[in-house]
Amino acid sequence: MKDQLLKRISDRSATVAVVGLGYVGLPLAVEFARAGFNVIGYDVSKRVVDLLMKGESHIQDVPASEIAALVESRKFVATTDESRLKEADTISIAVPTPLAKTRDPDMSYVIAVAEAVQRQAHPGMLVVLESTTYPGTTREVMQPRFESLGLTVGKDVFLAFSPERVDPGNEKWNTKNTPKVVGGITPACVDVAKALYETCIDTIVPVSTPEAAELVKLLENTFRSVNIGLVNEMAIVCDKLGVDVWEVIDAAATKPFGFMKFTPGPGIGGHCIPLDPHYLAWKMRTLNYRTRFIELASEVNSSMPEYVVEKTSIALNDDRKSVKGSRILVLGVAYKRDIDDMRESPALDVIRLLEERGATVDYHDPHVPSYREDGHSRTGVELTDEVMAGADAVVIVTDHRAVDYKRLVSKAKVIVDTRNALARLPAGKARIVTLARR
Ligand SMILES: NC(=O)c1ccc[n+]([C@@H]2O[C@H](COP(=O)([O-])OP(=O)(O)OC[C@H]3O[C@@H](n4cnc5c(N)ncnc54)[C@H](O)[C@@H]3O)[C@@H](O)[C@H]2O)c1
Repeated sequence: MKDQLLKRISDRSATVAVVGLGYVGLPLAVEFARAGFNVIGYDVSKRVVDLLMKGESHIQDVPASEIAALVESRKFVATTDESRLKEADTISIAVPTPLAKTRDPDMSYVIAVAEAVQRQAHPGMLVVLESTTYPGTTREVMQPRFESLGLTVGKDVFLAFSPERVDPGNEKWNTKNTPKVVGGITPACVDVAKALYETCIDTIVPVSTPEAAELVKLLENTFRSVNIGLVNEMAIVCDKLGVDVWEVIDAAATKPFGFMKFTPGPGIGGHCIPLDPHYLAWKMRTLNYRTRFIELASEVNSSMPEYVVEKTSIALNDDRKSVKGSRILVLGVAYKRDIDDMRESPALDVIRLLEERGATVDYHDPHVPSYREDGHSRTGVELTDEVMAGADAVVIVTDHRAVDYKRLVSKAKVIVDTRNALARLPAGKARIVTLARR
């Protein structure tokens, strides 16, 4: 089985499937098609599938022209028909792994796909889970479903975990040139998974078990969460000491070893950093261990929107105004620069907290013309001179490059700059307030 599959991968006669065509799955499907495979993209969303089959793209980093060409040449087909997975020699799974309201892992998407794969599995198939999850998922959730069919993992079928490292909006590091970690249930599973990914990714990093691979992803994202938490706390420390936190960070970053630069901000967002560490915290709670760093970082990071609102309140107070009754413009609502992803964005908390205190809030985001939250939709405003001048305060939550900050500084009354976006601009009319003193 292994040799047959390796040969089909090597001569590109293997049919490759990707389950979940979102931020992770779609770029991966495109890489597989570019490498010469026929690719089936399976997604439960009819909207996503119809869009892709029309040659359009819902993911900013994947150009529609590329999807259109792949659909036209039949190298890529998107479908909501689960039974098409039967045709696949390999299946890579990239479905959401959110948190439940209780902040426990919501495994419903992974389990739904595991059941679909179980229904469509056949001997000689490779299945790779890519969704970020707690250590043990591949072995505990995926493997028994193969075994219930009488298939032996490592002999009849192959099973591995390989975390995705997509960084939306990153112009240097993409699916192809970012090294990819792979951990299989058996050495044969790693060999097959490595062979598949080597066809379209420059560097593959094998590890000894799926648990190691699962933990690699959680370490990476916990590392970011903890360091962002540390630097956010440093901003508060600097504010109280009257020291410029940006100057301190930039000077520390001149140390050529042993320091890595992280920057403070209004809080963390996206599908990964605010959520993934809680998968590990949950797993460890089941083993009676409390992951203190994870909880502390989460506490500091999730308090940042409150801190931003406090800063805004103080800034208005200096103009003899209260938050209640003020008109506030939030600039940038995506969770980070130059992307359109709103998931877990701290802007949502900042807007909610300002409105709870009685402000009228408008927003502008060149990448997010409108969005829906809790069933309500909100539409952004044009960034006109009147809008900038009419706001009692402007809060920069996300520092998209497409915004004309020079004009903003010349028009606005007061700007709360949570990203240090205005640091290199000459002084203008606006009074500028940062997270910590500048
Ligand atoms: N977005 C990132 O930057 C990023 C980076 C690294 C890892 N990850 C991880 O990758 C995984 C996927 O994240 P994403 O951002 O691509 O999610 P996404 O929401 O953008 O896409 C997931 C897709 O899966 C589809 N889907 C849901 N249930 C399905 C099912 N049962 N069968 C088939 N399709 C189904 C959805 O319709 C959606 O199109 C998550 O575990 C995430 O933590 C995300």
